[in-house]
Amino acid sequence: MAGIMVERDAVMAALHGLIGEALEGRGRALFVAGEAGLGKTTVLEHAAAAAQGRFKVGVGRADVAEAALPFGLIGQALEVLLGGAAEPANSAGRSAAPAPADYFYAVLGRLRLAATEPLFLVLDDAHWADPDSLTLLRLICRRITALPVAVLVTARPWPPEALRAGEELAAQQLADVQRLVPLSPAAARSILSQWAGTPESATELERGAALCAGNPLLLDYVAAAMRAGQGLPEPHSPAGTSCAPAAAISPGGPGGAGAAVSAGGRGAGAAFPSRGGGPGRWAGGRGCGSGARSVRSCRAGPRRR
Ligand SMILES: Nc1ncnc2c1ncn2[C@@H]1O[C@H](COP(=O)(O)OP(=O)(O)OP(=O)(O)O)[C@@H](O)[C@H]1O
Ligand SMILES: [Mg+2]
Repeated sequence: MAGIMVERDAVMAALHGLIGEALEGRGRALFVAGEAGLGKTTVLEHAAAAAQGRFKVGVGRADVAEAALPFGLIGQALEVLLGGAAEPANSAGRSAAPAPADYFYAVLGRLRLAATEPLFLVLDDAHWADPDSLTLLRLICRRITALPVAVLVTARPWPPEALRAGEELAAQQLADVQRLVPLSPAAARSILSQWAGTPESATELERGAALCAGNPLLLDYVAAAMRAGQGLPEPHSPAGTSCAPAAAISPGGPGGAGAAVSAGGRGAGAAFPSRGGGPGRWAGGRGCGSGARSVRSCRAGPRRR
């Protein structure tokens, strides 16, 4: 089930526009960009719910471990949409892999045939996409303008290739790029108060929200710590410093603590509950490992909503 989302009206409007146009036979792409934890996958879950029963949906999820596997990302989604792997017409009996161009044209041909029903191609975490997937994605976006095919791509700003593809397609009116921004302080306080599930003082809520700088994933961690009665890290402690708002979601690039989350680096993890530390225990300077995947795996405990 798709999670609760606040302050995401623009991206949801773009999503419903994408769906409506595709159902009318005008295929387009929507790129949803944002730093780690700002809610890209949550938007994608809402999209899947909105598409249910109206589209055949194929989802691909990128992984840093597969970033060098040719067509590794887009192949996952296409296999569902095309009902199996796309093979070039003259490939029977061949042992060698088809040339990329043959594969591209085989996919486009199969996509046209499959598009007798509306199709929804969804790629999550495309910042880890392999280069062949991005090339094929660009090609598909160029060829679906008269087909009932919607494309939704989520990506962090770094590594930059996926977002760059989105911007180039947007410049050609083939895609829309929506950038997720941090939640407002008022929304952050309200969310924290709901998720913490305990009567926190206004000062604690204010301080917790400030530490998270509007990042919903960080709000999730802080709420978990509050539920566990752990309190918040002091702003001047190693943990508190690492979770400082400005650093936590510095835009793009492997620079600040939040960027370290997005770039697979270390730093932001220092303020998160440690992997072995049990529910809500602040790590106090020991990171959870590298990358949002490992950060995510050290969440402090299930959120009560
Ligand atoms: N707009 C929002 N309002 C409330 N909660 C949200 C919102 N967006 C995301 N969340 C919550 O924040 C958490 C992180 O969201 P999500 O996993 O979608 O982030 P992401 O951008 O996909 O991160 P990553 O780059 O690590 O994949 C989830 O628990 C989600 O439910
Ligand atoms: Mg995600």
